[in-house]
Amino acid sequence: MRAYEFRKSGKPEVLKLKELDEPVPTKNEVKVKIECIGINYAEILSRKGMYGWAPKKPYTPGMEAYGEVVEVGEEVQDRNVGDKVVIGKQYGSYAEFICVEQHLCFDAIESFTPEENAAYLVNFMTAWVALKKMCRLAAGERVLIHAAAGGVGTAAIQIGKALGCTVYGTASKQEKLELIENLGADKAINYSTQDFYEEIIADGGKVDCVLEVVGGEVFKKSLKLLKPFGSLAVIGFASINFKKWNPISWWRTWKDAPKVKILSMMKRSQGIFASHIGYLTNNTEVTSVISEELRSFTEAHGLKPVVGKVFDFEELPEAHRYMESRASVGKIVVKVNH
Ligand SMILES: NC(=O)c1ccc[n+]([C@@H]2O[C@H](COP(=O)([O-])OP(=O)(O)OC[C@H]3O[C@@H](n4cnc5c(N)ncnc54)[C@H](OP(=O)(O)O)[C@@H]3O)[C@@H](O)[C@H]2O)c1
Repeated sequence: MRAYEFRKSGKPEVLKLKELDEPVPTKNEVKVKIECIGINYAEILSRKGMYGWAPKKPYTPGMEAYGEVVEVGEEVQDRNVGDKVVIGKQYGSYAEFICVEQHLCFDAIESFTPEENAAYLVNFMTAWVALKKMCRLAAGERVLIHAAAGGVGTAAIQIGKALGCTVYGTASKQEKLELIENLGADKAINYSTQDFYEEIIADGGKVDCVLEVVGGEVFKKSLKLLKPFGSLAVIGFASINFKKWNPISWWRTWKDAPKVKILSMMKRSQGIFASHIGYLTNNTEVTSVISEELRSFTEAHGLKPVVGKVFDFEELPEAHRYMESRASVGKIVVKVNH
């Protein structure tokens, strides 16, 4: 099969399209012929060598995909050859085939296109876990979503509105603001030219919840925006720019990494959460509960992933370059032509 692999960290060109052996499912795994791949920011970080739990190189990156089941292991009960599924895995989806444990293989949503299915799982599950399960976001609350025009951001806006909240979204480019408001956000703020703290205070005061993905000043200012009993979920650190050979970048990474002092939080009665669905989905039971809840919520409220751009399989490094440029909106999807 064709699959991308990389041997050393670096620019998108380190991703090389190769001919590799097709994976063989273990007794608890499902083998899927991939039709569409969802691209995630974490894959940019892992390509650059800045992702904590990437496997030893060389490996095939890629955390999610949509496709068809072509083989099942002997102990797999709920999956059959021919099923259309979405899958999540820590790596391996930049390929024509992948094997995944059955609990990380979910029914595709029939009303979605293949591209939308590939764009759904990681972004919506991440936003749902952070906003609903951890911060317990509820109707009538005010929530701020950072990088709101991106994959997780567009999912989070839709979830926030469906929960009945007032939603603020930030982005770094003017062109992204329209999308944020079209998705239902009450106000979109360009945080590269406007002070999001001042804008939100002027628009009704502090917020109950923040979804934080950037780090540095954005994290610090977001903490100040929280009301008493407010909560902030850290799910990413997009501004990280760690370079092994540059000690100044070590210091910057340390300085900008989100940190809290429990005693200061006590003074303000606030909660800070952090989550990573890669670790969470190791827990079969939790994964099953979350995926069921999320699916019902998605269908009940007619939520849908925003697919911003589709690339061909051969152009996958270009898709990485596009995401890094900060110009992308919604989810970037790569279509596999077998
Ligand atoms: N914890 C988890 O389980 C989990 C799962 C999925 C994703 N995430 C995190 O959620 C965030 C969004 O992921 P995504 O896959 O949906 O990507 P994305 O939002 O579609 O793309 C990344 C966006 O991050 C924003 N950004 C802010 N500061 C940046 C910087 N210094 N350099 C580059 N981009 C920057 C950019 O939007 P603006 O320029 O408009 O700000 C950019 O478009 C990432 O931090 C990712 O690591 C976490």
